[in-house]
Amino acid sequence: MRENDDGNDVLAGLVLAPVTVTVAAAGLGLRVLVWSLRRPVRLARLTVLAVVAWVVVTGRAWWLAVAVALLVAVLVVWWRCWPVAFDHRVTQRARGRVRSWSYRRRWGVAMTGCGLTTKDNDGDRVYPTRSVIWSTKTADWFRVRMLPGQTLNDWNTKAPALAAALDVQTLRFAPATGRFARKADLDVTAIRSDPLAGTRTAAPAAAADGLAVRVGRCEDGTDLVIDLADPWHVGVQGMSRSGKSVLLYDLLAATAGRTDVLLTGLDPTGILLAPWEHAPGVDLRHCGTDDPDHAVEVVEALVDVMDQRIGHLLATGSDKVTPGTQGMPVVVVVLEEYPGLLSVLAAHDKTTKPGGLEGRVRLGVRRLVQEGAKAGVRVVMLAQRFDAAVVGGAERSNLGTRLSMRVDNGDAVRMLHPAATPAQVAELAAAEPGRGLVDTPGQPTRWFKADLTGYGQYQDAVRTAHQQPVLVVSDDETTDMEAAA
Ligand SMILES: Nc1ncnc2c1ncn2[C@@H]1O[C@H](COP(=O)(O)OP(=O)(O)O)[C@@H](O)[C@H]1O
Ligand SMILES: [Mg+2]
Repeated sequence: MRENDDGNDVLAGLVLAPVTVTVAAAGLGLRVLVWSLRRPVRLARLTVLAVVAWVVVTGRAWWLAVAVALLVAVLVVWWRCWPVAFDHRVTQRARGRVRSWSYRRRWGVAMTGCGLTTKDNDGDRVYPTRSVIWSTKTADWFRVRMLPGQTLNDWNTKAPALAAALDVQTLRFAPATGRFARKADLDVTAIRSDPLAGTRTAAPAAAADGLAVRVGRCEDGTDLVIDLADPWHVGVQGMSRSGKSVLLYDLLAATAGRTDVLLTGLDPTGILLAPWEHAPGVDLRHCGTDDPDHAVEVVEALVDVMDQRIGHLLATGSDKVTPGTQGMPVVVVVLEEYPGLLSVLAAHDKTTKPGGLEGRVRLGVRRLVQEGAKAGVRVVMLAQRFDAAVVGGAERSNLGTRLSMRVDNGDAVRMLHPAATPAQVAELAAAEPGRGLVDTPGQPTRWFKADLTGYGQYQDAVRTAHQQPVLVVSDDETTDMEAAA
């Protein structure tokens, strides 16, 4: 029996051994193939090394020439046919390799200094690990693995200190995504030089695409667009001289002279809406603070327009106005310095017989915000800060596009941008004019810089569009006017 068993084993061994070897070899081959496809740069480097070794051993120099020519040909074809992949895998990786020297030199000290290391059982220091780096001209991307006990919040809190220690301008952390991401991984964006630095001058004629108006640029290089076709309102907050009015010049200049947009609103400063004095819809605009009753009349007239449209919707059995269609312009309601207007009305209510003007404006505006979107009404509300006393939560939730420029009150920032990180809140307190945070539905909170439209340019664009003589006021004079307002 034993002899027989041994015989079977030998036979099985003879048959199985080659199969096992073949399967193992195929598996290994496949792994090498996948590895090399995922790391083409490393593969190229290995190939070059192999060729150099071959040339040194055999002394056949022409091999080297052939290999170099082949490599160049492959790179050129790749670059021409798949420029995006080439940029990511070759250009960004090559830059990242150079950048990694800087990180390698600073990583240990930075992690220890910011308290992001721990010690293992033997008392040795353990550091969070970092992946390879991809770099564009202005930013680096890599992934870090947090140590046990750390959270995204810990890293966000340390971001400013870590950015200084790693010699970059800003660090942003986000939970890592993708097939190979672990729960402890964070995707890191290190911004080296500010993509929003400098000022871009607005070009009103080129700024509008349908009802979408380009008003600035975002940190990822895309344009910041306010689309008046979007069925929601816009909230803009920022301290005095933070750039709110300029952002509105960008938006309004691009809508001047259009029949599909009707510009209305209340402007206690009297500056923003002044150039529109000859444009259609005079009864729906109020400027200055001299005539509080007129402010109330305008708000109530706007509510009437909205109610008529809603009535029309009910009568025609539709559920929303298609904005910009014939006879149905988008009604843009600008509320410049809205809390300021409310205070003027409140003061008026106190000194005269209680007429409840403030209450009537609040009520009208609340209705416009809550019911206006479906009727083609777009409220653009400006305030130094959106505190709860000025706009309640229900109204705030109807503001789809939320922009904050320099605001030094963290609660006010979080009121418009609940997902803003502590670093963003801190940075916003010292932001230069025109720079701020933007939130739009379905997009993360991000930085933007508004384009610059001078008051003279804005006034010129609006007056020309509405066929009136242009009286150009220099931007210095507007500063004086604003100070007086
Ligand atoms: N996007 C911008 N780019 C460059 N400078 C700006 C920008 N926005 C505003 N400024 C500067 O800041 C000043 C104040 O802006 P303004 O819009 O009047 O502030 P606010 O309305 O918030 O009080 C402007 O006169 C301009 O010099
Ligand atoms: Mg202003």
